Amino acid sequence: MAPRFPPDRLPTAYQEFLCAYPAYEHTAALDDLRARHYSRLDEQGHVYLDYTGGSLYADSQITAHMDILRRGVYGNPHSSNPTSKAATELDERARQYVLEYFNAAPDEYVCIFTPNASGALKLVGESYPFAPGDRFILTFDNHNSVNGIREFARAKGAEVIYVPVVPPDLRIDERTLRALLDAPFAGKTLFAYPAQSNFSGVQHSLAWIQLAQAQGWDVLVDFAAYAPTNRVDLSACQPDFVDLSFYKIFGYPTGIGCLIARKAALKKLRRPWFAGGTITLASVQGDGYFLAEGEAAFEDGTINYLNIPAVEIGLKHIAGIGIETIHQRVMCLAGWLIEQLMSLRHSNGTPLIRLYGPVETTMRGGTVTINFFDPDGHHFDFREVEAEANAHNISLRTGCFCNPGAGEVAGDLTAEEMRDCFQNEERMTFEQFLMVMDNKSPGAVRVSLGIVSNFADVYRFLTFAESYLDRHSPKTV
Ligand SMILES: Cc1ncc(COP(=O)(O)O)c(C=O)c1O
Repeated sequence: MAPRFPPDRLPTAYQEFLCAYPAYEHTAALDDLRARHYSRLDEQGHVYLDYTGGSLYADSQITAHMDILRRGVYGNPHSSNPTSKAATELDERARQYVLEYFNAAPDEYVCIFTPNASGALKLVGESYPFAPGDRFILTFDNHNSVNGIREFARAKGAEVIYVPVVPPDLRIDERTLRALLDAPFAGKTLFAYPAQSNFSGVQHSLAWIQLAQAQGWDVLVDFAAYAPTNRVDLSACQPDFVDLSFYKIFGYPTGIGCLIARKAALKKLRRPWFAGGTITLASVQGDGYFLAEGEAAFEDGTINYLNIPAVEIGLKHIAGIGIETIHQRVMCLAGWLIEQLMSLRHSNGTPLIRLYGPVETTMRGGTVTINFFDPDGHHFDFREVEAEANAHNISLRTGCFCNPGAGEVAGDLTAEEMRDCFQNEERMTFEQFLMVMDNKSPGAVRVSLGIVSNFADVYRFLTFAESYLDRHSPKTV
């Protein structure tokens, strides 16, 4: 079979792509941006396809941040000395800009800086006033940092209910969800779901937020995988709690995320402890403390005060490009990538890949998760696929991406098989788990697109993908 994606055919394929996706040409500014501020990617021959893992930063972000640090003298914030005031001013400006960027009215929402999205989720989990008779409802395709909230819920006697995703698209069956949300029940408490699944790229309806709230639920929406390539308008969808990691949106700095919470919802939370910075008064002899109001009560210790100004720089970088431009480019590339992957067939007509998620580009993002299969239908071990991709300087991600629920449905792992893994008290490693599930693929290969993805990145991945045509999985030869 003649290869369809040989390196020398890239220019022709690009013209064909532009005919099929003319909107891509409106995103040309991103090519200039990549050449000017992300040149290290092409200079070092990288094919970066792990934007859902972490986005990439522009040189200009680093320069702007270093300029701030070089120009000023900044001390630990929240004191009245001049260097402290200077740091406080920068950090509070960044906090206000976060709210502005996500269109969250400052009289309604607060922005709490956290180490990452997981830190934001833990704040909600450990402080939410779950009680016996309450329910915590969540979708199957949550990240583990949302799944982990179930342990706080259970410890306080609440019931945990998962809403399954349905293959092959891995979307939620809305009737099942509605039945759960609408059920007449006194202990309605928290409902959590991702705006976009980091496993399948599925985007769930943001209309669920107000539907659930109308029935008395508090709603936590994980925007970590959605925000990097989609506009988030919190005034329009009005969730109670939102978690984010900033490195996923603009690459730098790492180590900062946030919890954006409605003030009314935040008042319901009960912090399990106090720490430096979270109180107005604490006493050793008096054995008491008063928590501060608003975000201060949730930011433990000293915030990441020298890096927080880089959050404002990063968000302004995205705003300057326009999130719609990023979205458009990513969706053109994702649409073409999925079409081409789905059309790859072995000589005997069997498909090369299985896609875990929607084929169509509506209500999905640029996260494309697949497994490779040989002409006899045996899967290629995703770890070996990753090793081969590494040799081509292609950065993709394999495994279950901390999203076991979607992975189990995609890989056809049953509840019984999964329960068996936890029968034994002894800890099972992921490697041992893979050996137990030898006949199935409990993981996959994830390719994700982002801010400076281009046609050549996607083409080079397809060149790599088609090298699997007519090959046999080493496990079966
Ligand atoms: C959807 C989603 N939620 C939450 C997280 C957790 O983010 P972090 O590891 O930055 O805390 C991730 C990370 O990949 C994610 O993709």
